[in-house]
Amino acid sequence: MTPHEFTSPGGAKMGRRGFLDLVLGGGIIALFGAIVYPLLRFVIPPKNPEAAASSVVAAKVGELAPNSGKIFRFGKDPAILILTSSGQYRAFTAICTHLDCTVQYRGDLEQIWCACHNGHYDLSGKNISGPPPAPLLPYSVTVRGDQIIVSKA
Ligand code: FES
Repeated sequence: MTPHEFTSPGGAKMGRRGFLDLVLGGGIIALFGAIVYPLLRFVIPPKNPEAAASSVVAAKVGELAPNSGKIFRFGKDPAILILTSSGQYRAFTAICTHLDCTVQYRGDLEQIWCACHNGHYDLSGKNISGPPPAPLLPYSVTVRGDQIIVSKA
């Protein structure tokens, strides 16, 4: 074996050039894996078991005062639960139909309001002023024991 010969992992003798090709090739493969694997993990999100939920516990009975609202998560999306001043629960997706901002409840107006572009919805989810082009998607609300359950209609 000359001073410029190396033994490969398989036991074969190789020259300096072969050794460098092996080291650089391994480095390129490692670099490729270090960049591509995280990118794939980012582009292909993990399965979210909550995303397929058809009903969630939105709040406990007594948690909301009359004429107030609460944002909660329905799977991966925000939703809004409202207790009207007359004591009825209403629930909708909280994603504004204009440009997807999260809406909120305005007790002073007794309306659902989107702060992004001053969009207004009534308590049936209907878009009544501002830029939102469509109503909010309604959910059904059931009180079971001390839990307020919101389900897809
Ligand atoms: S995103 Fe709601 S009004 Fe524009």
